[in-house]
Amino acid sequence: MLEEPDVGGRQTLPAQTGTLRQGRPQVNDTDLIPRVPVQHHRRPPAEMVREAEAFAQRMAQRRSVRDFAGDPLPDGVVEAAIRAASTAPSGANVQPWRFVVLTDPARKRRLREAAEAEERAFYDRRASAEWLGAIAALGTDWRKPFLETAPAVIVVFEVHQGPHSPKPYYVKESVGIAVGLLITALHHAGLVTLTHTPSPMRFLNEVCERPPEERPYVVMPVGYPTSDAHVPDLPRKPLDEIMIRW
Ligand SMILES: Cc1cc2nc3c(=O)[nH]c(=O)nc-3n(C[C@H](O)[C@H](O)[C@H](O)COP(=O)(O)O)c2cc1C
Repeated sequence: MLEEPDVGGRQTLPAQTGTLRQGRPQVNDTDLIPRVPVQHHRRPPAEMVREAEAFAQRMAQRRSVRDFAGDPLPDGVVEAAIRAASTAPSGANVQPWRFVVLTDPARKRRLREAAEAEERAFYDRRASAEWLGAIAALGTDWRKPFLETAPAVIVVFEVHQGPHSPKPYYVKESVGIAVGLLITALHHAGLVTLTHTPSPMRFLNEVCERPPEERPYVVMPVGYPTSDAHVPDLPRKPLDEIMIRW
């Protein structure tokens, strides 16, 4: 079994250290977080390239899936993926994320019903013609059965300043990176997911019983595709279109 990595309180930056002089915190040596050696070993260049290529190919297989089988997940996989996500860098190391994992069928049903009510209003009335045009080819509509059929749904929240949480910095960037790692970890573990963003999302606080300083970021059903699951045949932009080298 993998050991829980040691990420004790050491990693959390003190919000304000030292004494305030002229309105600016003065950091004394004793306030600094103790240093630990960087864990890194250099590998042969050929091996690095091989691994980078293999990883890129593996990630190219990732797709957003909307048809989920009900098969249960192996114990511990979601937890390990969330641990991987929690290694993301974050502004001032505030780690402003919360991952709520829904597996209880009644809770998932509530989630689906609330999401479909919002999505119905969105598709019927609120969505602009431009936005509907942008997603038309994907063939999505207000129905979200995957919120109930997927064995687990991870709802990710941004954690803002509140009674038990400090002021975060670069929240969207930090949580976005964590979600990227989560998607990658789930794919690496052999699971599929979907980046789902109902609009608006505030109903998720009630379904997940989270306080107002936690703001919903994304909903991610997790599981296995049905045996007849299909996805749109979408091209990915080639490297020479997305990368510039000077
Ligand atoms: C921020 C974000 C929000 C998304 N929201 C939704 C959504 O609400 N519903 C949905 O079906 N797909 C959603 N998607 C999935 C995209 O449609 C999908 O990533 C895109 O079509 C590319 O397909 P792929 O992920 O299979 O490569 C979202 C993706 C992102 C990154």
